[in-house]
Amino acid sequence: MSEDRALAQAAKIVRGSTEPTNKPTIAGFFDEATHTISYVVHDAATSRAAIIDSVLDFDPAAGRIGYASATRIIDYVTERDLRVDWVIETHAHADHLSAAPYLQDRLGGELAIGREIVRVQEVFGKIFNAGTDFQRDGSQFDLLFDDGDTFQIGSLEAVALHVPGHTPADMAYVIGDAAFVGDTIFMPDFGTARTDFPGGDARQLFRSIRRLLSLPGETRLFLCHDYKAPGREFYAWETTVAEQRERNVHVKDGVSEDDFVEMRTNRDRKLAMPELILPSVQVNIRGGRLPDPEDNGVSYIRIPVNAI
Ligand SMILES: [Fe+2]
Repeated sequence: MSEDRALAQAAKIVRGSTEPTNKPTIAGFFDEATHTISYVVHDAATSRAAIIDSVLDFDPAAGRIGYASATRIIDYVTERDLRVDWVIETHAHADHLSAAPYLQDRLGGELAIGREIVRVQEVFGKIFNAGTDFQRDGSQFDLLFDDGDTFQIGSLEAVALHVPGHTPADMAYVIGDAAFVGDTIFMPDFGTARTDFPGGDARQLFRSIRRLLSLPGETRLFLCHDYKAPGREFYAWETTVAEQRERNVHVKDGVSEDDFVEMRTNRDRKLAMPELILPSVQVNIRGGRLPDPEDNGVSYIRIPVNAI
């Protein structure tokens, strides 16, 4: 097998991040409505920050958006006088709308996602019958990360890893000794992300997860979702590579790819679609912006019938 340079670079960054001064400071913001965790990651030395996977509140019954989740992040950033360099998405989420452009307007930073978002735009652009004014080239974002791309948050080193499977475009971001793994793996007692959305692939997800789990055992993993788990009464979103390898109920060491694919595929058949999938994807493939208002000044979110 050819050398995985991007992963080697990520492992090097983790191993080099042993001092309190070069570990990122991380705050998780849990959104109970969608079970999503958004993060503010910052470098204590320079006060430079990244926001990962923010949430825009949405009440589907009323068709109304809200800013309470985004405001918590703005308050946190403002109180600490942080300067936001990055507003990053791990993928085009299917269960919540992104607040990335709202936050970017107020706090600055570059809006970034994985390069393969163009494939998600292609698939869902068709499903929503989006016109030619909807560009399927990722131009709604400031930067598209390729596997192995490096970036900085102040003096913290970071690398983007392409980890497809849940969607074709999923990325994980290794920042210092922490990895933000999006929807790949969940807490060890819960397992892994679903792979039944358009473009999802269980075999790919297994390989992406095993790739992440070959980072050093001490790597801190920060998850995008938590749903509790049988016997656990509290939400949790931080674990380590070593814990996952030892205990993850779907992908601990020793589980074969074929066994995982069979389990994942069977389980996905029983899952209902997330309540907000249609609004979320429609907005998130536009970089978190609502579709353009119609001639009455109102934006509409469409529901395709029998299309997914
Ligand atoms: Fe997701």
